[in-house]
Amino acid sequence: MKILVTGGLGYIGSHVTVLLLESGVEVISIDNLDNSRIEVLEGIRAITGKKPVFELLDLKDKDKTIDLFKKYTDIDGVIHFAAHKAVGESLESPLKYYENNIGGLINLLELLCELSIPLIFSSSCTVYGQASKLPIEENTPLKPPSSPYGYTKQIGEQIIEDCCEAHLGFKAILLRYFNPIGAHPSAKIGEYPKGIPQNLVPFLTQTAIGKRPILKVFGSNYNTPDGTCIRDYIHVMDLAQAHIDSIYYLISCDKKLTCEIFNVGTGHGVSVLEVINAFEKITSKSVSYRFSDPRKGDSVAAFADVNKINNQMGWKAKFSLEDALQSAWNWEKEIDRKS
Ligand code: WQD
Repeated sequence: MKILVTGGLGYIGSHVTVLLLESGVEVISIDNLDNSRIEVLEGIRAITGKKPVFELLDLKDKDKTIDLFKKYTDIDGVIHFAAHKAVGESLESPLKYYENNIGGLINLLELLCELSIPLIFSSSCTVYGQASKLPIEENTPLKPPSSPYGYTKQIGEQIIEDCCEAHLGFKAILLRYFNPIGAHPSAKIGEYPKGIPQNLVPFLTQTAIGKRPILKVFGSNYNTPDGTCIRDYIHVMDLAQAHIDSIYYLISCDKKLTCEIFNVGTGHGVSVLEVINAFEKITSKSVSYRFSDPRKGDSVAAFADVNKINNQMGWKAKFSLEDALQSAWNWEKEIDRKS
């Protein structure tokens, strides 16, 4: 089987590529290196002993995207990660997000519909907005997301669903991630946030290693047991495995499948303070933090109902929060050692 991975050198894309290669799948990886590094290819090779075919490509370049599918005529499926993903940045530069995330998706879809190549789409729990019922199920009514980034995921899902309806040969699975954290156990690949990390865990590990003076906890008076926000933190390796299971399910699925949506999370909610405490316990590192104002757009609590993916694909998260935090810490120490 030959799979095209867009954004293949990014955080999730690189971990999925490792598992694809290890399962014997041939991988074509494309990336514009806007939010990733070419060195990730070496990390993938060091783990798997193999390298994906790599093409430097921006999906916003329609002609080059067409040329890619003329060059590789035996692609069995596409896993689409290539997108900007920083919630805060999307609020400052919405057009950058709409042009890249929607424009790139449309260029890709025009070819996949024409060639009837199945698609796995990287979506996000952010499409739910502040869900009124927890755990969140796939049929939970969507609410306005808190950012243009969230809108690009909601609109992206709708565009793909419409394409599946209009083009009988085209089918897709939309994976709604909750909060991916951690790194490959080898610490040879992981999350490389550019500049100041927006997300909790990379900011936490950078504080623990001394790159940041203090971690700000956004909000301490929410209506939760300890007053801090609750999220469903999933080990990136569990998330990567969900993509492997999904691509096999999509390609080999005999029942008529046009467009299916699956949550991918652990099914458990954990607060910010619980993450900090778990990290300190497993690493014996103390993390300096202080409470600050709530962050605009944050939902109080979000965690997944994962019965659908478990029942239909047999997938469930295997790693614990502690496993994920330990792998994040090992990765932070590896980055520090190499710097
Ligand atoms: C988690 C919790 C913060 C930083 C977003 C996107 C989602 C996905 C992951 C791309 C919140 C708190 C954070 C900090 C803090 N994006 N926090 N101090 O916002 O749940 O999800 O990122 O893949 O689509 O919506 O993740 O890690 O930013 O925040 O207190 O320095 O940690 O308030 O409660 P979020 P996050």
